[in-house]
Amino acid sequence: MRWYKKICCCVLVAAIMLCLSVFAFSASMDDWTQKWDTAVSDGSVLSVSPGSDSTQLDFAWLEKIGAKSAFRFGTSQTLIDADALSVRESLTVVGRKQCHVTADNLHPDTVYYYSYFRNGAWSETYSVRTPGDTLTALFVSDAQLGRSGDWHKKEVLLHDVAGWDTTLTEAMQSHPEIALCLSAGDQAEIGFSEQQFRLFLAPQALRALPIATTIGNHEFYFPYLNLHFAHPNRFGGSAVHSLGDEPYYFEKGNVLFIVLDSNNSFSLDQEAVLEKAVGAYPDTRWRVVMMHHSLYSCEDTPDEGPMHLRKVFAPLFKKYGVDLVLSGHTHRYSRSKPIDGITYLEGGCCSGCNCKASPQILPAYTEAGYPYNNPVYSVLQFGENEISIESFAVCEDESVMMDEGTVTGGIHSGELPKMPLPAKILQTILSLFGRAVSLLFV
Ligand SMILES: [Fe+2]
Repeated sequence: MRWYKKICCCVLVAAIMLCLSVFAFSASMDDWTQKWDTAVSDGSVLSVSPGSDSTQLDFAWLEKIGAKSAFRFGTSQTLIDADALSVRESLTVVGRKQCHVTADNLHPDTVYYYSYFRNGAWSETYSVRTPGDTLTALFVSDAQLGRSGDWHKKEVLLHDVAGWDTTLTEAMQSHPEIALCLSAGDQAEIGFSEQQFRLFLAPQALRALPIATTIGNHEFYFPYLNLHFAHPNRFGGSAVHSLGDEPYYFEKGNVLFIVLDSNNSFSLDQEAVLEKAVGAYPDTRWRVVMMHHSLYSCEDTPDEGPMHLRKVFAPLFKKYGVDLVLSGHTHRYSRSKPIDGITYLEGGCCSGCNCKASPQILPAYTEAGYPYNNPVYSVLQFGENEISIESFAVCEDESVMMDEGTVTGGIHSGELPKMPLPAKILQTILSLFGRAVSLLFV
């Protein structure tokens, strides 16, 4: 082939690829314009939560008081042999009931099918796969729907939900083995916006993917985040009690996940959660903490909050044998070097609502950043010998790997760490007082 024909072919291929990529991105916005009315009016959108351990999954949705609620669950796509699981109902502050179902005795690496009765009819049938021997998880942060502009405006929310959906779709298509989504906070821009949480849960990928959310600074004061999720092992014993959600923990694929509320920097509260979680699941291969604020952000601002949080959290993480800390908040991606044996992964922004580049000059403790402002996500694989981290930038309609690393260590042996008894008694007394005060506001 002559040289000019080769150039023409290359130009043509590049033009087709560009058109395809632009079309795919536009289609996502168009799709969400079409789906808008259904998504924002769907008060019964369902969430799948990871369950207490690898044999469980939890499901939650909101329903009108007095309306029928039911749930079918089984291994047949037709649901012909499905079990009718019991639905636990509880009244919420928004005047609807939360419907909560636990599926247990689940087998690894198995596809289950389910349908739930909502708004007077059965939903379509969805599927969810349990993890196999090796857990692969998607890690994201700060979807923060409504952040890209004036959150009252439909086009702002359309932009953000389309970006969130694009990231989820990209991740699941490129890594179908993902069996858990870890979201490190600020799912919504406005913690009292029911609409933003409905949109956060609206992508179809979330019917098939258990998600563990974290309370962010945008969700601290408002009792809405916890309405939509049935997190396992909620810890109700904090003295500083958030209206948004409580800390919780679970075991999945030989990993203990502990989700903390980093808006609360009272160290006795944090230690009480860590002690309880590690005591409940002492033998897991890995211990992972997820919290919204980053202790070792690539924004090194020693005069501000991170230094205070470092003093509170970092010694506890060392004491309780934490291997990996997942966080967000700055909307900048970074991965730290091991600090006292702990790796800190800062998730960036996953939806394109307000993504920021890492600084050109990184702090000495930072191993890698990402100096562009694309949406990002990470895929974590929890192997026997290491945790592998692969992080991707979403560029139009394709993902480009932009960082990779590993976490090693994770052998937990010896006596379980404990809180000193006087500290435990003090924390218990204060938590009873904190609980009483919080009831005045709900
Ligand atoms: Fe945020």
